[in-house]
Amino acid sequence: MKTQEQPEQTTQTHSNGVLSVKNLTKEFGPHLVLDSISLSIEKGKTTVVIGPSGCGKTVLIKHLIVLLRPTLGEVYFEDRRIDNLSELQLNDVRTHFGFLFQGGALFDSLNVFENIVFPIRQHHKIKDWKEVEELVKAKLAMVGLDGFQHYFPASLSGGQRKRVALARAIALNPEVLLYDEPTTGLDPIRSDVINELVLKLQRELGVTTVVVTHDMNSAYKIADRIVMLHNGRIVADGDADHIRNHPHPVVQQFINGQVGEDDLAILRMSGTASQPQFLPRDFEA
Ligand SMILES: Nc1ncnc2c1ncn2[C@@H]1O[C@H](COP(=O)(O)OP(=O)(O)OP(=O)(O)O)[C@@H](O)[C@H]1O
Ligand SMILES: [Mg+2]
Repeated sequence: MKTQEQPEQTTQTHSNGVLSVKNLTKEFGPHLVLDSISLSIEKGKTTVVIGPSGCGKTVLIKHLIVLLRPTLGEVYFEDRRIDNLSELQLNDVRTHFGFLFQGGALFDSLNVFENIVFPIRQHHKIKDWKEVEELVKAKLAMVGLDGFQHYFPASLSGGQRKRVALARAIALNPEVLLYDEPTTGLDPIRSDVINELVLKLQRELGVTTVVVTHDMNSAYKIADRIVMLHNGRIVADGDADHIRNHPHPVVQQFINGQVGEDDLAILRMSGTASQPQFLPRDFEA
């Protein structure tokens, strides 16, 4: 059941928004996931979206490149409305975006080289094969994996697979990079390698970055701005200090990894309230 929470008034001005959603509502059948969200993503900055498992982070980020269409509301890229475009028109718009899917999703039957070439092929950007080889080499060098062109995903570690997925995401020199849970499933050191890469790509390529995560160490390290979703609304929006000192109990519970009353109620119903640390999201890959 929805609480009648008021969305947080944004603490920063975002007149320089490159990507924005206006009154974005998403329902799946009777299930309201996003409840009239408005958000403007600032050019050249890193915006991190946090929130508990299932709160709609992936659904939100998928709307930014219109992999999902809103039930109500609008999506804009550089002042152009994009949520109502045809798939053909979107194909063109999406060349401006790089997307790192939750789970890294490489094609297992393709080697590293072919995985990175895939979006280039898909968008018909291949002119000269030598040029493509140079491009793949340069992208792999950016993530520290030049020389791995002939490896197959199955022979790479989880961290290496994420880095290959990152090299693929930057293959078309995107202006916007979207990452969905880039550090999930990695140990703290491998996670920090990914954090450093996110920072490096933003610095060196000047890209606008949106990262979805529930890894607070990562959020604090990379974010210019952190937006927290809860019950389909934005409950907190600001820099790391704003979030750390936020008065909303839901924000404090989330950033401190405490179990909220809603979760406890579910566990009590299933008779496991004495082991509240074992929530479903702890078992994610
Ligand atoms: N295609 C879909 N059809 C029906 N329901 C969906 C679909 N995609 C997402 N949902 C529902 O929307 C809600 C939000 O899902 P979403 O994947 O955005 O969560 P999340 O915040 O990314 O969670 P996590 O942190 O676990 O990745 C969930 O209840 C999910 O079941
Ligand atoms: Mg998700």
